[in-house]
Amino acid sequence: MIYLDNAATTPLDPEVFEAMKPYMLNDFGNPSSTHSHGRKTRAALESARQQIASLLNAEPGEIVFTSGGTEADNALLRGAIQVHGVQHVITSPIEHHAVSHTLEVLARQGWFKLHHVTLDEKGHINLDDLETLLKENPHAVVSLMHANNEIGNLLDIERAGELCHYYNAWFHSDTVQTVGHLRHDLSRLKVDGMTAGAHKFHGPKGVGFMFVRKKKRIEPFIHGGAQERNMRGGTENVYGVVGMAKALELAYRDMDAHARHIRALKLRMTAQLREAIPGVSFHGDSEDLKRSLYTILNVCLPECDESGQLLFNLDQQGISASGGSACSSGEPGGSHVLKALYPSCKGASVRFSFSRFNTVEDIDQAVRALEQLCCIPA
Ligand SMILES: Cc1ncc(COP(=O)(O)O)c(C=O)c1O
Repeated sequence: MIYLDNAATTPLDPEVFEAMKPYMLNDFGNPSSTHSHGRKTRAALESARQQIASLLNAEPGEIVFTSGGTEADNALLRGAIQVHGVQHVITSPIEHHAVSHTLEVLARQGWFKLHHVTLDEKGHINLDDLETLLKENPHAVVSLMHANNEIGNLLDIERAGELCHYYNAWFHSDTVQTVGHLRHDLSRLKVDGMTAGAHKFHGPKGVGFMFVRKKKRIEPFIHGGAQERNMRGGTENVYGVVGMAKALELAYRDMDAHARHIRALKLRMTAQLREAIPGVSFHGDSEDLKRSLYTILNVCLPECDESGQLLFNLDQQGISASGGSACSSGEPGGSHVLKALYPSCKGASVRFSFSRFNTVEDIDQAVRALEQLCCIPA
């Protein structure tokens, strides 16, 4: 069985599991309790917060634990829009649904007017258009993802942040695909809120965090107790948080080596597919290693009788990949990202996404399988 769907989720690192175990079995106190059981888990929680903050060059008070990327996106957007009485929100047509659906629902309720930046032919955000929109709509909230989860395109997040800062906008970036794979220096980056989900970097599912810049506080999304400095009610997922901090520590410790290994896999797959399948191409800028995230390759295969069954057939051969993002595999009418970029494309699309646990053999086998399934004339 070959797993090439790491943008959907990654396998838990065994070292992460070892770090979590004591908090699953013995150290079960509620971190809000003041007795010794509670103090022990409180200490673990705060040490995880400290560790995550220090890796991102943020302050511990700027890290708020959540149930994952979706909650963090919802919380940041709703919170920022409410607190800052925002009239205009600027986003792109290819955001993850955690962002786009949240914004569409709020816009329909009349909270603000929603504006979309244009994209270039490779699916990159047109930053000149962003500047025009920022000029026309002062004090906006801007939400632009760092790496697109379907095509891997990278935003020039530094430049986008500078523009938002200059025009007094509140800048949110969905960084769910890049945390643990690229380094973020939040002392420098002009982002006011960003998000992460531990399961995208070999941590556990159901836990994530949001970064909220100190002077840009937001209203809580989930009301309840005073947990997370009144920013997110609910007893924290202690073993999840401990696992997330460990996963991030491991990701940062060996990031350069992992990136080298994964880049080589992506290059190998790109070259082999070009050789094996006439007419193959790559969606977005996923083929460009500088302008796309190294973990994602979105392949566009020539149309054939079997196009509709391609993912199913790959699965039958033991290869797990995705047709867009796994979270949207049930999306009626197909991927909104590919539709925005290629409205008349008829070929089949497969997103392969890699992790440090993939091997050269995985790539070779996947290419062989695709070659067989692509109806290539003898
Ligand atoms: C870009 C992006 N944002 C948000 C999410 C949602 O994260 P989670 O699964 O942790 O809720 C995902 C998951 O695929 C994603 O890729």
